[in-house]
Amino acid sequence: GAVIEENSVGFCNVDGTIDTNYPGYTGSGFANTNNAAGNGIRWSVNFPNAGTQTFAFRYAAIDNRPAKLLINGVTVAANINFPATSSWSNWTTISVPASVSAGVSSVRLEATGGSGLPNIDRLEV
Ligand code: GCU
Repeated sequence: GAVIEENSVGFCNVDGTIDTNYPGYTGSGFANTNNAAGNGIRWSVNFPNAGTQTFAFRYAAIDNRPAKLLINGVTVAANINFPATSSWSNWTTISVPASVSAGVSSVRLEATGGSGLPNIDRLEV
């Protein structure tokens, strides 16, 4: 997948493309995963402390998109839903809490539905 330096939490690997064809994104583009379950986005995040961490995903989608969150290959949130935002240009943020360990970690958001992830602008932790 494409590799970008996109957001506040470091490098990001996308099973798809980095696109710019809808306005309202921040940075250099948004991640558009291919439309199939199992496609996702990976970030490398350094957590200063162990504990509960909030993951805020800014996204857009015209239909509901389910997903799961994995840290170092382990599912930490199995049933995330990204509700439809009414248009690809209408961005909003959902926050997902999950338990983390201190240190550099692989954070992966992965589609569990056949349409892939919503278009993801950024992750803030
Ligand atoms: C359209 C849209 C993409 C989006 C895709 C999807 O093709 O242009 O930006 O990612 O639908 O359904 O995921």
